[in-house]
Amino acid sequence: MTSQQAIELENKYGAHNYHPLPVVLQKGEGVFVWDVEGEKYYDFLSAYSAVNQGHCHPKIVNAMTAQAKTLSLTSRAFYNDMLGKYEKFATEYFGFDKLLPMNTGAEAVETAIKLCRKYAYEVNGVEENQAQIIVCENNFHGRTTTVISFSNDENARKSFGPYTPGFIKIEYDNLEALENALKKDNIAGFLVEPIQGEAGVYVPSENYLSKAKALCKKYNVLFIADEVQTGIARTGKLLAVDHENVKPDILILGKALSGGAYPVSAVLANDAIMQVIKPGQHGSTFGGNPIAAAVAIAALEVVQDEKLADNAERLGILFRKEISAFAKENDLVKSVRGKGLLNAILVNDTEESSTAWDICIKLRDNGLLAKPTHGNIIRFAPPLVMTEEQLMDCVSIIKKTISEFK
Ligand SMILES: Cc1ncc(COP(=O)(O)O)c(C=O)c1O
Repeated sequence: MTSQQAIELENKYGAHNYHPLPVVLQKGEGVFVWDVEGEKYYDFLSAYSAVNQGHCHPKIVNAMTAQAKTLSLTSRAFYNDMLGKYEKFATEYFGFDKLLPMNTGAEAVETAIKLCRKYAYEVNGVEENQAQIIVCENNFHGRTTTVISFSNDENARKSFGPYTPGFIKIEYDNLEALENALKKDNIAGFLVEPIQGEAGVYVPSENYLSKAKALCKKYNVLFIADEVQTGIARTGKLLAVDHENVKPDILILGKALSGGAYPVSAVLANDAIMQVIKPGQHGSTFGGNPIAAAVAIAALEVVQDEKLADNAERLGILFRKEISAFAKENDLVKSVRGKGLLNAILVNDTEESSTAWDICIKLRDNGLLAKPTHGNIIRFAPPLVMTEEQLMDCVSIIKKTISEFK
């Protein structure tokens, strides 16, 4: 099959809910992917930070295939011999009492919202059906009806109403706005991305997260960290909140929890919070299935064994140093920002322009795949198994492409 044929098939038979860069991938290994014509590319998106451990990591693939041949799904109607093992491993790994397994990031966010509301009613005395959760402007937490209800991306929201009530939106990185909102009645939680990824890799001010957590504690409100994109070593620490030594009351994980091999997400919390969920009150047919459990253990072991957080930290510093120096001599790049290997460059054009897209097409032509988050922002998030030599090769491709861009 040619690229053109594959694209035509998707166009004809698939819903048009995405606008992919025109490249048809067929194979992946480590930091590389290949298209159907055999062209090789650096993957600088990592499936939106799901493939932190690199494509088709042998340890993860082996764990997945071995488990798939043994037992794939029991539903939670019965126990299976992998789930408890995974829950013990992951709770010790992240330092929480309990884990609630789901599949996708959006489902885990929904789960956290339900958990937060139930805790507010049953433990914190909030009046039934009156709970409010504080969220941030320009958030991205997924695509379900409730989650898009508190988005301010019109593209994600428009014509999908009526919307779920119970959310108060405040400016991101604004502690005064947070405290004002916390003073209101019936506040149950504060849901926040430690770095806003989809919005364009917005890194908040230093100590924003620790101060926000302290405010939540002061007002007896749950601090919920959505680390679906920032978690699992992406930003140079195991979790992005670790940069400020913050322990969330509820932690949401997804994406790289499986190394991109399988949809695995999770919500973690301590007993005092998790105990509010009783049998029959929440669940998912696939959540906590044996393959997911085996894959997640292997994926988390890879992060530890291969010291991926340290690598992300080291290479991230190098990347920003190189691109910052380049930005000084190139008019098209305004700046670079990020943490670890979650970075973005700001292109000198408007948010509505097609410049970032056009640059990504040229990057593709030069062997590197990235995707704009806006008309003037390109996110750069390679797999964390990248070597320094590969990173410098990518830096050369980026510099060359942008220097030649007209
Ligand atoms: C911070 C954050 N939360 C939630 C999600 C939703 O995850 P999923 O696409 O697996 O539903 C994403 C996806 O990009 C995300 O970045």
